[in-house]
Amino acid sequence: MNDEEQGEARASGCTMGWTPPQNETMRAKASAGRRGGMLLPTGSGLRIAVVGCGYWGSKHVRVLSGTPGVAALTIVEPNAALARATQAAFPAVRVRSTLQEALRSIDAVVIATPPETHAQLAMQALAAGRHVLVEKPLATSTEEAQMLVEQARRSDVVLMVGHTFRYNPAVRELRRRLRAGEFGRIYYIHSARLNLGLYRPDVNVIWDLAPHDISIINFLLDAAPVAVDAWGDSLAFGGVEDIAYIRLEYEKPQVTGYAHLSWLDPCKTRSVTVVGSAKMAVYDDLAEERLRIFDRGIDDGEGLAPLHERPPRYRYGDITSPHIRPDEPLALQDRHFVECIRDKLVPETSGEDAIGIIATLEAISRSIKRRRLLPVTAALPGGGLAAVMSEARPAAIQALTGVAPS
Ligand SMILES: NC(=O)c1ccc[n+]([C@@H]2O[C@H](COP(=O)([O-])OP(=O)(O)OC[C@H]3O[C@@H](n4cnc5c(N)ncnc54)[C@H](O)[C@@H]3O)[C@@H](O)[C@H]2O)c1
Repeated sequence: MNDEEQGEARASGCTMGWTPPQNETMRAKASAGRRGGMLLPTGSGLRIAVVGCGYWGSKHVRVLSGTPGVAALTIVEPNAALARATQAAFPAVRVRSTLQEALRSIDAVVIATPPETHAQLAMQALAAGRHVLVEKPLATSTEEAQMLVEQARRSDVVLMVGHTFRYNPAVRELRRRLRAGEFGRIYYIHSARLNLGLYRPDVNVIWDLAPHDISIINFLLDAAPVAVDAWGDSLAFGGVEDIAYIRLEYEKPQVTGYAHLSWLDPCKTRSVTVVGSAKMAVYDDLAEERLRIFDRGIDDGEGLAPLHERPPRYRYGDITSPHIRPDEPLALQDRHFVECIRDKLVPETSGEDAIGIIATLEAISRSIKRRRLLPVTAALPGGGLAAVMSEARPAAIQALTGVAPS
């Protein structure tokens, strides 16, 4: 069926069958925010273009090829060899050389290009009245993100962001337990996302990886951080941070989140640790047992006798690992995108939601630029260590802290 035939068939509402959405939890949540306007005719299928078919875009092509409600797929990829390879793997996809060319014959766009191109491509599609799913980060500034959200509103189309971990069954199970109070009072949440690479030329490790950590912790706590503190450094290449430590302060509930990010680590790590007064949990995305619940803690740790009067009693109980459905998060995410377009729903990971994440990333960047270290020397009476440090690195200390070592 060619593009024109697809369009006619869509208008008559008699093409590809529409399979009802599978995930009732997502459906119920999304239904809370229904957008206005007309529904697409049921029974029609969507024509979707994937823009950018690199590492992640090619996964979208695979997933969308089997997503119910998708009638036709187009790819837009300037790298001709990559475009040919994608078409060889998925012979049904059409290839277009530009988004402009593809827009004529599609209903929706998935943008999986480098982050610095997101805002311009998404704006082009939204202004043409097409539904858009943009990979994280939505944009590289809050100003751009806000413009996209406003344009989506004007065009009355879906704007969704690929915060894929929000659709991860292990993260959802962890959240369910946390919100049911199973962990007691949450002391802190720690996220680690480490690996050797992959270095990206257009963004640093924070804009590449922290969207995941922020979106996961926000989701677990149902809140957004009110303050951040961060340290980052450019170690292997000048000018692009490849390692960062981030602190996220939440007010309600009052919890601190920490994220350790690195493109320069020998061991691949993808883990989130929740430490509560009643139980603790580790979600390890690379382990066979994705989620482990530790019945561990300090029995009399909650404001009883001072530590010097009575030593704490540690509790070492069972470690359990609940069954996690093996559904692929990206498949759930893309299915949700299709469902939101069909049923006029507000996506769980909407453009509005993403503005807060971009604002957090900007605050982290500002915090890193400030580099406010306090010199240990200034705090020491007698100057024992001060003498060593001031001899060793006076210029470096002054550059970092703004305080001349005495
Ligand atoms: N949600 C997730 O878990 C997840 C995981 C990995 C990557 N991502 C995101 O996906 C996006 C792409 O990352 P990647 O690792 O696939 O990068 P990549 O470099 O492997 O692929 C990007 C592709 O976009 C193409 N491209 C560049 N400009 C284009 C344009 N103007 N029009 C069409 N195509 C263009 C490039 O030729 C390249 O093939 C990034 O935003 C990244 O943050 C998300």
